Parts: sequence; structure tokens; C-alpha cells
Amino acid sequence: MQQDMNFLDRNEFNFEPSEEVVKAFNNFDIKKLCFYTRIYGEGKKSIFSDFLSERYDINEQQIILGYGAEDLLKQAVHYFLTEGGSKTMLIPKYSWWYYKSIADEVAGTTLQYPVYENGDTFCYDFEGLKAMVDEVKPKILLVASPNNPTGNGLEPSELERLLQMVQPSTIVLVDEAYASFVSDDTSYVKKLVETYSNVVICRTLSKFYGLPGLRMGFGFVGRGEEMDRFTRYSNKYLGYDRLSEEIAIAALKSEEHYRHVANVMQEAREMYNREIAPLNGFKVYRSVANFILIKYPIELKEALQQAFADQSYKIKFMDEPGINTHMRITLGRREQNRTVCDTILHIAKQQ
Ligand SMILES: Cc1ncc(COP(=O)(O)O)c(C=O)c1O
Repeated sequence: MQQDMNFLDRNEFNFEPSEEVVKAFNNFDIKKLCFYTRIYGEGKKSIFSDFLSERYDINEQQIILGYGAEDLLKQAVHYFLTEGGSKTMLIPKYSWWYYKSIADEVAGTTLQYPVYENGDTFCYDFEGLKAMVDEVKPKILLVASPNNPTGNGLEPSELERLLQMVQPSTIVLVDEAYASFVSDDTSYVKKLVETYSNVVICRTLSKFYGLPGLRMGFGFVGRGEEMDRFTRYSNKYLGYDRLSEEIAIAALKSEEHYRHVANVMQEAREMYNREIAPLNGFKVYRSVANFILIKYPIELKEALQQAFADQSYKIKFMDEPGINTHMRITLGRREQNRTVCDTILHIAKQQ
């Protein structure tokens, strides 16, 4: 009999939504969809941005909402690369393919800045990056923290260092879609958006809050003339999806449920480190996201792919230059993580 497929290839959520989220959905008053939101009467864009404003202690005007972080990134890249002036965006060498694609859509130029392997993690060369920023004078410096597919993140102090390093005319666009799995500190967001006019920080309900199908992203922006123009461009006059707003608020109120899931993911990281890292030719990278990057001996590629297919598991086998003997595995439920680990152990023993 065909087993259900286990999707551990797109960093989705293999757990249950919180009870509060289920309740918000089941109790939603469908008649609300017959009307636009009323909150615009208070000069606000959404009950969700209002909630976020309180939660993060940030002015509601500095909050933007979108159809996933995907949409916010696209809005920012399209807006800032077509303002006039530089059409160049710097992106990390190993990163989500989508960044280049959205710049291409508006005939922008993307240049990659180096990301180095250092021990069991990847990191940036801040001095090298500064030299590149000074020379290229990009309109956007994009950083992803945590970064997909490498799984490493930047400390708040490192984000601040980047902001101090660039001219105010360069927008620092921070993709924090995978934030919160390891640290729940969000206090730096307020500090950054209140100190720097040129910062945009994008977050989402898709990863930590496990609702990629909801398509709800939120962002925080600095303040200044240019950023205010961008915010006006981003804001939706007639409001946002009223059902999604309520579900999003319920998710953010369920911190305990999602922290519990994050703890299961931490156990999985430890298991991969304990059991896979010592294997000949394998390397397990440090991860602060809901996935983990593992290097494997390339001659095992076909056997691994076949073994995962036989078990009805989908895993992402990377094929970009420099990172093509690596697999990116979404951290799932305990039994899924166990199966993945056992499958790798089984194939590695046949070497
Ligand atoms: C780095 C990164 N940012 C953003 C996203 C998309 O997030 P959303 O579902 O909020 O559009 C993804 C999706 O996999 C991602 O890998």
C-alpha cells in the first residue's frame, strides 16, 4: 500500500496547529467577510498590525503586512530597485533562489557576496562585505537570518554592525522568515527600526508558527521619507484578509505550543549531530532554523535518494555549485526524524 508522503523538502510544518488557531478558524464569524475592516477608521491597517504593534512595542505605521514574507520581499525589491538610482542588490552566495528572481523581474542586478564555511557553520566576512558595499554602492543589501539553505543566523549585534557599515541610501533588507526557532528574543527589532531609517525586517507565519498555507507575512521598517513612501506603497487601502488576520493573532498567542515544537526540533538537531556527524564523509552543520544541512559523500547520492523514496520521504538534495554534495532536511516530528536518521545510517554502513 502507498504510504503517505513525508514532505521534509520545503521547510514546512509537520505538526498540528495550536488549539487557539483551530478555535479561531472554527469560531470565525463568516459575516465579517461581507465587510471591509473598520480599523482603517482609526488610521490603522489591520487588527493584526495593531496586535503586532503592541507585541513588539513598535509604532503601527512601521509595520507592513503581505502575502507571506515572499510578498514583502518582492514589494521591497521591486520598490527600491525601481526608484531611480542604483538597481543593484547584494545577496549571500548560498541563499534562496527567489532573491535573484525578484530582482530579475524589474531588470535589477544581483551580485553575490561570499559566505564562508567555518567549522560546522557558515559565516560572513564583514570586512570583505564592507569593501564590496563601498565599491558597488548597492541599493539593497539583503541578509537572511537564518539563511536558507545554510541554516546559520546573525546575532542582533551583527545586524547592527551591517547597518552601521552601509550608507543610509542602501536599504538593509533582512529576511527573518526562519527566526524564533532557537531564540525568542525580538527586542532588537524595535531598537533597529527606531535607530536606522534604512532597515526592513521581514517575518512570517509560515515557519515558526507553522502556517505556510495561510500566506501571512509581516515586516518592520525604519522611519524616514523614503521608507514612509515605501510603506504607503505597501499598505492596502481596503485592508487585508480578515480570516487570516484572526488566525495569525491566535498563532502569535500560542507561543507555548510552538515553543514545544521548536524543542522537538532541537532534539532532532542533537540526534543528527550525535549519530550522523561522526560518519565517514558526512558533516552536519549547525542550524538555527527548522531544517538542517548535511554534507554526504557524493557517491552515496543515488542510494540515499532511492532509500528516501522507498520510505516515502522527500528530502532536498542541493545541486548548486559549492553546495552540491549536501542535503537539506526539514526537521519534522520525532518519528520522521528517526526514520531519516536511520535511513542515512543504513546507507552509510553499506559504504
Ligand atoms: C529564506 C526564505 N524566506 C522566505 C520564505 C517564504 O516565506 P513565506 O511563506 O512567508 O512567503 C522562504 C520559504 O521557504 C524562505 O526559504
